[in-house]
Amino acid sequence: MCGIVGAVAKSDVLPLLLDGLKRLEYRGYDSAGIAVINDRNQISRTRSAGKIAELEKALSCSGAMPGTTGIAHTRWATHGPPTEINAHPHMSGQNLALVCNGIIENHEMLRQAQRRNGIEFASETDTEVIVNEIQQHIDRGLDLLAAVMETVAVLEGAYAIGVVSTNEPNRLVGARRGSPLVVGIGEGESYIASDMSALISVTRDFFILENGDIVDIHDGNIAIVDQSGRPQFRDRKTSRLTAEAIALGEHRHYMAKEIHEQGAAIANTLDNRITGTRLLEECFGAGAAAIFDETRSIQIIACGTSYYAGLVARHWFEEFGVPCQVEIASEFHSRHHAVPDGCLTVTLSQSGETIDTLSALALTRELGYMNSLTICNVPESSLVRESDLVLMTHAGPEIGVASTKAFTTQLTALRLLVIALGRRFGMTETDEARLIKELRELPAKVEAALTLEPAIMEIAGQFSDKHHALFLGRGAHYPIALEGALKLKEISYIHAEAYPAGELKHGPLALVDNEMPVISVAPNDRLLNKLKGNIEEVRARGGKLIVFADPHARIYDQENLQVIHVAPVDSSIAPIIFAIPLQMLAYHVGLIKGTDIDKPRNLAKSVTVE
Ligand code: G6P
Repeated sequence: MCGIVGAVAKSDVLPLLLDGLKRLEYRGYDSAGIAVINDRNQISRTRSAGKIAELEKALSCSGAMPGTTGIAHTRWATHGPPTEINAHPHMSGQNLALVCNGIIENHEMLRQAQRRNGIEFASETDTEVIVNEIQQHIDRGLDLLAAVMETVAVLEGAYAIGVVSTNEPNRLVGARRGSPLVVGIGEGESYIASDMSALISVTRDFFILENGDIVDIHDGNIAIVDQSGRPQFRDRKTSRLTAEAIALGEHRHYMAKEIHEQGAAIANTLDNRITGTRLLEECFGAGAAAIFDETRSIQIIACGTSYYAGLVARHWFEEFGVPCQVEIASEFHSRHHAVPDGCLTVTLSQSGETIDTLSALALTRELGYMNSLTICNVPESSLVRESDLVLMTHAGPEIGVASTKAFTTQLTALRLLVIALGRRFGMTETDEARLIKELRELPAKVEAALTLEPAIMEIAGQFSDKHHALFLGRGAHYPIALEGALKLKEISYIHAEAYPAGELKHGPLALVDNEMPVISVAPNDRLLNKLKGNIEEVRARGGKLIVFADPHARIYDQENLQVIHVAPVDSSIAPIIFAIPLQMLAYHVGLIKGTDIDKPRNLAKSVTVE
């Protein structure tokens, strides 16, 4: 994981690096550091444990850091705890500094070889072997670029690096394999970063590096080569990201902003994709119709919240006869496969950079799965580049680590895919017209759900001293319970578990007492009566229930049962709407508990390690 940024600039590079780090903080935030080649041609380095704010304090104590070439890093610890010593940049001697996002899988072997050469290690990280390796090549006379080329040839794992050396003070070399890296093109300046947003205040023009690319930024020139030095040509891309889209505005947290943006985000996801009562199938890209014609089943692959979107969608696909499997990406590439004929791989990802999802996609290709489609929120991401078909979610940048609008827009996009495939499995035009009508109503239903916030704030107060919570749901709402529990865990650090309501009696009921809040979602669907029975099982054992219910479900306040009515909604799109009060509940519990809502401890938004 981690975020990296680097630049060869015309003026002092420190403000640019700090601004970039702040925009990359979502990628990890347990320690941070900066190294600049100063005006005396020495490397000045400042690092600190904790978030970027701690680094800024350390910088204000250490005084000015002049210099036009520099690199910076915000860390999500893998090897070695989040201490200052383990923070990047790592150095070899006084002349070479490096930042890395990734994991070097053969670091033990390299470390032993380097120790035999008399090298001493300052940190417990896997990264330090890279900077030492580069130094060894420089010591035998190679320049920085050649030394990086030799080094990447022996590295195993996924990484993106940035390196500077006092031997060549106006040079910055970057390289990527697995982890993302973009090159920003400025006016007489050039930059590297883990994503475009890091550089949005200085440029909109980028090259997106491919796996195996090495970028050499030297005296105002940008050259991209492969490991053997052969030139690589990458298209120049212009980012459509705006500074406003990533500003916090009137909100206290990005999570609150993103929860409240969901109506507009869903409307954007639908924009130009439906007309009258029909889906515009072209939105899936050229060749989609032919691929859909051949599709006999789908395999959804995703992680975290995106995986839960997949679990909801399985119910939707199978309602129209489309066979659908859903699997956590890391598990998908941990097992053997019997590959079904005509199986379309569907990856779901907010970032498009989750390494487990990318590896699983690569595996489907090796195994001979038919084609791939990604539903993703980041246009220039690896997943988008590596998939045959793409449906962007158009949620706008999601910055809060806990995913909210990405989830509901993924579900919206999945409804479009249900129609596209459903058409091939006997969905009638009347069915399609109904589904389209429901989609058109979604943004207004979302706005109605958001009006529940004052009631949810009151309920949140009951959670602040609790240590555990149970979430219940049935059918397509079991994944919504899972998502609700995940949100509460992430944001408030309260241990929360979700169960299919029917499974309660097979174990978790033993946990129920008046100290265990039980939260249930109760849409007005065919499973309602069974769910009501499960609610009574909890009440009969003294459990305290909070139920988010459709008014037509006829569930009302009683002893040990608090009901919040969610505006009536068709059962098929109800999962999208019922997710929203659970997001708000987690947010307000986190607020009361005083946690760092947008950057919960130990987590990161984009998980680029396996
Ligand atoms: C991390 C994030 C989650 C996200 C998951 C999958 O764990 O904190 O919010 O759901 O990664 O990320 P993706 O970008 O692939 O949807």
